[in-house]
Amino acid sequence: MTLSTAVRSPSSSLRAPDLAAYTMQVRGLTQALAEPLSPEDCGAQSMPDASPVKWHLAHTTWFFETFLLRRYVRDYREFDPQFGLLFNSYYESLGARHPRPARGLLTRPSLSEVLAYRAQVDTALGEWLSGGLDDDARALLELGLHHERQHQELLLTDVKHLLFQNPLQPAYRTDLKTPQNRPLQPMRFHEVAEGLIEIGHAGAGFSFDNETPRHTQLLQAHRIADRPVSNAEYREFIRDDGYRRADFWLSDGWAQVQSRGWQQPLYWHDDLQASFSLGGTQALIDSAPVSHISFYEADAYARWAGARLPTEVEWEASANDLPVSGNFVDEDFLQPTAHAQTQDIPRLHQFFGDVWEWTGSAYLPYPGFRAAAGAVGEYNGKFMSNQMVLRGGSCVSHADHLRASYRNFFYPDARWQFSGIRLAQDVS
Ligand SMILES: [Fe+2]
Repeated sequence: MTLSTAVRSPSSSLRAPDLAAYTMQVRGLTQALAEPLSPEDCGAQSMPDASPVKWHLAHTTWFFETFLLRRYVRDYREFDPQFGLLFNSYYESLGARHPRPARGLLTRPSLSEVLAYRAQVDTALGEWLSGGLDDDARALLELGLHHERQHQELLLTDVKHLLFQNPLQPAYRTDLKTPQNRPLQPMRFHEVAEGLIEIGHAGAGFSFDNETPRHTQLLQAHRIADRPVSNAEYREFIRDDGYRRADFWLSDGWAQVQSRGWQQPLYWHDDLQASFSLGGTQALIDSAPVSHISFYEADAYARWAGARLPTEVEWEASANDLPVSGNFVDEDFLQPTAHAQTQDIPRLHQFFGDVWEWTGSAYLPYPGFRAAAGAVGEYNGKFMSNQMVLRGGSCVSHADHLRASYRNFFYPDARWQFSGIRLAQDVS
């Protein structure tokens, strides 16, 4: 398999002469997201799973420098040859690196040096993109841009977790849009017939390698909910002793409840009426999708509700026909919002945006999947154990980064992402 077939579909969605402008637009958003923050904000790390903003700014730059500029630009001189040790994330084949849990201890280079690093790499990228690209180069550029989109989302979720550690719970921004609490219709389930379907990516446009090969799956007859579970609905689970009754929980999940003292979603206040957002503490919006819950909590809620989580095949079967529209980062809420529902038109809502939806599917290779040779092959494939698939994107995702076949994955105890619940049921 060539490099290009491993990281992209046969025809790239990126076309010259827009490449340079689009690349700078994507790169520029990362820096715009960091602008409301102080240098002190940008250097701190709240937990091993999260990274400092300064590290995100540098690592995404290192990615372009390492996978593109060093490979394609003759006589390219790295900004600092030692940066690989600091800003390589997990690429074993690219050498030693600083441990992830200690990224917050990297007081050098300074934020201003990292911004100078970004500027040099952006200048070099712009010059390089003014020439022609072959297929492999175009595929790697597109991978780098989607990688940057992933880190834009992580930057925001990591900042939220960081600011939450401060007892004053400061806002990331005080000028964000505030969602309305809309009346919500009772959840409805749409029945889907048994059949053979194809899932996975094929055709034009970008995909990550883990979305391929496209293949046939047997879809069992099932019902899938028309919208995600709301905050108000999740509150009822808590009030019904959902966190105190072991019979709702998987054994590993119950162990997490006990050892970590979970009693409510991350960021909820003890009164179950308020939560921390990127705009600071605010009243919980009852009709908005519940978020910041682990797979274990999603699974326990589903069992309490007499349902289950959809498989990723079921999720993709329903999402395939839906437009990629919804509440994404450019809406500027930076939190889940309630969809305006009508009583008469049964439709599927909010598959994209608002919250990543936990599925009941383990993150495994599709039949025939092969990771590419070399460092780029480490991007997705080596993480295919002990994690669960999430689908659909969130309120801090960018729309141009999402599609029905996109497979996100996190460990089942992860709570700091905007992760929520869509229910499904068997048809017996
Ligand atoms: Fe990365």
